[in-house]
Amino acid sequence: MIHTVILAAGKGTRMRSDIPKVLHALAGKSFIQHVIDSASELGAEKHFVVVGHGADQVKQNTASAEVCFVEQNEQLGTGHAVQQVMPYFSEDAVVLILYGDVPLIQSKTLHTLTSLVDNSSMALLTVNMEQPEGYGRIVRDEQDNVCGIVEQKDASEIQKTITEVNTGVMAIRGADLKRWLPMLKNDNAQKEFYLTDIVSIASNEGKEVRTAQPSSVYETLGVNDRRQQAALERIYQKQLAHGLMEQGLTLLDPARFDCRGVVRVGKDCVVDVNCVFEGEVILGDGVYVGPNCHIKDSKIASGVNIKSHTVIDQATVGAGAVVGPFARLRPDAELGKNTKVGNFVEIKKATLGENSKVNHLSYVGDASLGADVNIGAGTITCNYDGKNKFKTQIGDGVFVGSNTALVAPIALGANVTVAAGSVITTDVKDDALAVARSRQRNIESWVRPPKAEQ
Ligand code: UD1
Ligand code: CA
Repeated sequence: MIHTVILAAGKGTRMRSDIPKVLHALAGKSFIQHVIDSASELGAEKHFVVVGHGADQVKQNTASAEVCFVEQNEQLGTGHAVQQVMPYFSEDAVVLILYGDVPLIQSKTLHTLTSLVDNSSMALLTVNMEQPEGYGRIVRDEQDNVCGIVEQKDASEIQKTITEVNTGVMAIRGADLKRWLPMLKNDNAQKEFYLTDIVSIASNEGKEVRTAQPSSVYETLGVNDRRQQAALERIYQKQLAHGLMEQGLTLLDPARFDCRGVVRVGKDCVVDVNCVFEGEVILGDGVYVGPNCHIKDSKIASGVNIKSHTVIDQATVGAGAVVGPFARLRPDAELGKNTKVGNFVEIKKATLGENSKVNHLSYVGDASLGADVNIGAGTITCNYDGKNKFKTQIGDGVFVGSNTALVAPIALGANVTVAAGSVITTDVKDDALAVARSRQRNIESWVRPPKAEQ
């Protein structure tokens, strides 16, 4: 059983923000949620989050069944922070100490660390740094066993040359931690209760202090300001991009790819530059996504061609469809096989049957279109009377001429033809032609008015 303690009471002054630091985001997800998700992936059953500055906001935005919040009203040090959780974690759990502002820690690394803990040991995650300034140094005895951690501000000149540093992440048996936490003192340079002092306590008790290293150093990097946040965002995006390329995705430039969620790809998909994917996006085989597209929570079937500058949100696109450039699919747009939605077309809560086309400058909302429908440029489904929304139903094989207003509720039967420029307000039966515009009148030899004299 694993319980986590996640320290998140700090203010994060250098973010210069009204939002508590741990609620700032990487890839659209808060730092602390990244930490919780990685620990949950490892199998941690409970997360005790130590909150202080901005506690209410953190609680509101991080609440879930596995998360308990514990308040630390004064920040008297990392040891003091963990002491607040003493009454809650279980004695027979392995307690994993994590940090709400160190978002990229991986569950694989945490697994390696927690696996090292048994009745006779605790475990520390350490890294070697050529420039260890600011970090706690790992002190080892002649047998190379870890016997303590000394903070930068308390370190001797010789200790300052140690390059193995404390990442802060550690794993300790609950029963041991409960015994050791009350023994912490604040007789140090910062007058803080250092969590790191439990390492020398453990060593004095004859426990072995085992160490593990993360797969990559970035996993242990904390965020203190916007520049570090941006740097981690790039590292994270690069990892995601590389992962997708390993699955066979062609990314024309992995440095100009952003995923804020999960993208699943079939075979031989190509994503051009500057696309943003959000939530859960599924691409079938052979999908092409042109430059500057934004796709969120959508399912794109095989062989779809999404041309540049297209925005797709909570929509499904059928196999072989062509969308864009400059198209917008809004929630519940469902495009059938081999459909076409062209430039400056907005589709919302509407289904398009197989082979139907809406190629230019149209709004189709609250509508169902059959197969083989052709909607002319500038057609609008007038779905809203200012208070209520109404549906437009269009049968198979309908041809709607350009610049038509379809005033809903309205139904066009199969194979209906609508003349360009019509305002359609009553239902049209199968195979009929609907013309709803004033007839053209031509006046021969028309003389234009002369310019008035001044
Ligand atoms: C700590 C470690 C140091 C390690 C470094 C890695 C201690 C004493 N030192 O130093 O060995 O190299 O992390 O980054 O643990 N926090 C609270 N309540 C508190 C104090 C801190 O919640 O009372 C939180 C902070 O918000 C922060 C984290 O704990 O997220 C680390 O605290 P900080 O004081 O910054 O520790 P460091 O000085 O960086
Ligand atoms: Ca610090």
